Amino acid sequence: MKTKAFAPVNVAPIKYWGKEDEKLRIPANSNLSMCLEKLGTETEVEFRDNLKRDEVWIDGREVGGRARERVLRQIERIRRLTDRKEKVKVMSRNNFPKSTGLSSSASGMGALTVAGCKAAGLSLSEKELSRLARLASGSACRSIPDGWVEWVKGSGDKTSYAKQVFPVKHRDLRILVVILSKVEKRISTTKGHGIAKTSPFYKKRMETVRRDLRLIKKYIRERDFQKFGEMLEDESLNMHAVMLTSRPNLIYWLPETVRVMQAVQGWRKQGLESYFTINTGQNVFVVCEAKNEKGLVSRLEKIEGVLEVKRDKVGRGSRLI
Ligand code: DP6
Repeated sequence: MKTKAFAPVNVAPIKYWGKEDEKLRIPANSNLSMCLEKLGTETEVEFRDNLKRDEVWIDGREVGGRARERVLRQIERIRRLTDRKEKVKVMSRNNFPKSTGLSSSASGMGALTVAGCKAAGLSLSEKELSRLARLASGSACRSIPDGWVEWVKGSGDKTSYAKQVFPVKHRDLRILVVILSKVEKRISTTKGHGIAKTSPFYKKRMETVRRDLRLIKKYIRERDFQKFGEMLEDESLNMHAVMLTSRPNLIYWLPETVRVMQAVQGWRKQGLESYFTINTGQNVFVVCEAKNEKGLVSRLEKIEGVLEVKRDKVGRGSRLI
């Protein structure tokens, strides 16, 4: 059977950086994200008797190496839950440049898990899908439920998964995806997680991140956009402080990245409110209220080095299509 699924990218106001268990991808701290409505990955999975070998296609090309291995490892986990032995064909397409800090592994592994399970004849609950997606890429577990999502750290495989904390409609925030360069990062996120503990600031981060998660949920619940935005920005910089001081150090920003960060802060001083957050890459997410979206897009597009601004908003999680 051939099955297709869509999974969104998710953007985390409280980040996942560092793991308690590398193999099971148990995060060092519980974290929180919002699913996007449009940005994401569409993946088709087919188990077939007459295929000579497994095939993995991403963005129109058959891929080998680590990308292929990572996909096939997840297929293997799915095979183990069933008695399927056939070869598989996986066709995946992102509607944005992958490996540039826009969380393609979250949407990619989310869509692969949902389509793969269905194609294999499994029918899993949201919680089971989230746990399984987590094993392929930690942040992918947050692309399964709708809306505002918390990945509860848990204490092991069974208890570490993501669940909705607020529905899509809770707050109509806009997320502007600022694309500065399509060059893929040199150091993978998985490697980055592995060296997070070498930063002298990591321990300090762990002391405050639990309190911050509690506070940000309160700000979201109360719809306090200013407090929410300030914490989103501080938290992203806090994570990058750990990255910048790891061994080896990780500098994901480009000059254009800093230009966007400073522009956002400058406009804010003038009364045009928005806040930025950045993952492992050069590209930037700018979060604002609906009333400021248009003004911000036209300003962002004029910044030197900005290739494209994609407009998005909080949306649903993974689904079959
Ligand atoms: C910086 O989920 O990509 O985007 O579990 O090794 O696949 P692996 O890592 P991944 O890490 C995402 C890290 C981040 C922060 C976040 O989205 O919370």
